[in-house]
Amino acid sequence: MERVKRIEKIKRILSIKSLDGILISRIENVRYLSGFTGDTAILLIGNDLRFLLTDGRYTLQAKEGVIGFKIIEIKKAVEGLADLLKSYHLKRIGFESDVITYDLYQDLTKRINFVEWIPIKEEIQSLRAIKEDKEILLIKEAAKMADDALKSIFHLIKPGAVEKDLSLALEFEIKKRADDIAFDIIVASGANSAMPHAVPSKKKIDKGDFIIIDFGAKYKGYHSDETVTFGIGFLDDNKKKIWQIVKDAQAFAFEVIKPNIEAKKVDETARNYIDSKGYGKYFSHGTGHGVGLAIHEYPYITSLESGILKENMVFTVEPGIYIPNLGGVRIEDTIVVTNDGFKVLTNYPKEVEII
Ligand code: CO
Repeated sequence: MERVKRIEKIKRILSIKSLDGILISRIENVRYLSGFTGDTAILLIGNDLRFLLTDGRYTLQAKEGVIGFKIIEIKKAVEGLADLLKSYHLKRIGFESDVITYDLYQDLTKRINFVEWIPIKEEIQSLRAIKEDKEILLIKEAAKMADDALKSIFHLIKPGAVEKDLSLALEFEIKKRADDIAFDIIVASGANSAMPHAVPSKKKIDKGDFIIIDFGAKYKGYHSDETVTFGIGFLDDNKKKIWQIVKDAQAFAFEVIKPNIEAKKVDETARNYIDSKGYGKYFSHGTGHGVGLAIHEYPYITSLESGILKENMVFTVEPGIYIPNLGGVRIEDTIVVTNDGFKVLTNYPKEVEII
């Protein structure tokens, strides 16, 4: 049933843009619309046409999971497409201009020159943004698995522990519970924690340092995303103050979340608060991003985003302060917008825990 509603969204784009067909090549969109769980496939959707083009490695897999699409085995995407478009007389085709490479575009326009290619990035970017109840449940389950995994290795986090050992232990526990990790886990302590995207190193964690752990699980295609920052041994007053500013920035950002406000309002709220405390230049990334079949997806919670929040959108709220040499704090939860506010889907307690 959901699948039919999802296809209806594509049909609306077909009619608004007067297209004969839409080519879907972003793999998360392919999965969302068709149920295909492999790595490589293209969908061609017209008013009454639904084709899934894939190569020999995936035809068996496609036959199992895909409903409502005619599966076509192809050797070369462009040739397979050319045949289809020609035999069904399709002339105006929309494509995801932020996914198709320049090379493929050159190939398509040269070899399929009887088609008018129409970029439809804006129309398609919010396709998966409003989640169905079932999708929200899967993100929640993924978050629970990740939280349980962190709880199970919590006793290993102490002065002298090695960042990389902690990240590997957490990865193992997440993989035991879920299908996979959602992304490469970040375990960063001391000066390393001042880099928002630090890679776990062989560094030992020291007393008095922050340790940032950014982690998530992947379950049935859906991701969770969450970050905790702990203090090792003790935290001096300055570090305690920084931790609390980030925590309060998240709380203030939460307060404005409800349907029909601009996504950038959430970013603005967290950013203005951190700025008012004098740490504005140390908050070097956006406040959040959508989460679903992809770990980063629409809506983006940044000052540049013009989109409007809607009920059942799922995204992260993750303000941070990163000070070179001193260290960094990030506190991140994944939330879902409800009819009058929001609900948190990630449940690891965000307290200034001193280990
Ligand atoms: Co995130």
